[in-house]
Amino acid sequence: SPIRVTVIQNSPQFGAPEKNRKEVEDLIFSQEDPSAGLIVLPELFATGYQFVSKDEVVSLAEPEDGPTFEFLSSLSRKTGAVVVGGLPIRRADGISNGALVVWGERLLASYDKVHLFDRERDFFVEGKSPLPVVTTPFGPMGVMICFDWLFPEALRSLALSGATVVAHPANWVLPFGPQGMILRSVENRLFTVTANRVGTEERGGLSPLRYIGESQIVSPKGEILARAGSDRPEIITATIRPEEALSKKVAEKSDFFEQRRPELYHP
Ligand code: ACM
Repeated sequence: SPIRVTVIQNSPQFGAPEKNRKEVEDLIFSQEDPSAGLIVLPELFATGYQFVSKDEVVSLAEPEDGPTFEFLSSLSRKTGAVVVGGLPIRRADGISNGALVVWGERLLASYDKVHLFDRERDFFVEGKSPLPVVTTPFGPMGVMICFDWLFPEALRSLALSGATVVAHPANWVLPFGPQGMILRSVENRLFTVTANRVGTEERGGLSPLRYIGESQIVSPKGEILARAGSDRPEIITATIRPEEALSKKVAEKSDFFEQRRPELYHP
C-alpha cells in the first residue's frame, strides 16, 4: 500500500544541536499535513560534520537513548512516521558515525557507518555489523550512510536481504552522488531515499566543505520522484508503493536476482 516519504534537507550550524533540531522540526511542521510513513534526515543532522578534533566528536556524541533519540521519537509520535537520522553514537570502543531508526517510543535499529569517508577515519570507529534491514510497517527497510553508496556491495546486500526501500542519510560533498544513486536504484530494483544537507563549513583552517544538497527519492525504475535544489533548506516528498520493489524483473525473461552468477564473480 502507498506511503508518503518525506526528506529533510537542512543546513546545520556546527555544534548547535538544539538550533539544528528546531530547524528540522520547523521544516516538518511547515507542511499543511506533516503525516508520513517515512521521514529521512541527513547524516550528523544536528551536530554538523567538519570536526577539527576528537574532543569535539566526544563532546557532541550521544548514547542511543540520548536527545537525538528523544527528538526522533517526538517527530515519529507527531507524524506517525518511521524516522531515520544520523548522529555521532557513543560506543564501547569509540564514537561511530551512526544512524537511528525510530518508530513511536521504539528504537527499531541503530547503524554504525561501515565505510568512513576521508577525515572521518581520524575521528570515528568503523561499524562492525552488517548494514541493517529493519522490519517496518511498510516492509523491510535498509539503511546506509553517505559514502556507503560508493561500495556497490553495501546496497546490493541490503537488496538481497529483502529491503524494498533504503534510507540514506548523507553529507555529500562530491558531485556524482545524485546521478549515481539512480543506477543503484535500478540495478537493485528498489526505492532509495537520500537526505543530504546544504551549506558550507569552514573550520579550524581546514579547506571549506560545501554540501551539494540535491536530496532525492528514486524509484526502482530510476525515476526521480522528487529532488531538492543545491543551495537552501528544503523538504521534498513523494508517495511510493514499496511492494513495487519486490519484483526484480527488468524484462519478461530477465530478472536481476535470478540471473546473478555469483559462482563466476571474483571474490
Ligand atoms: C560522506 O560520506 N559524508 C561523504
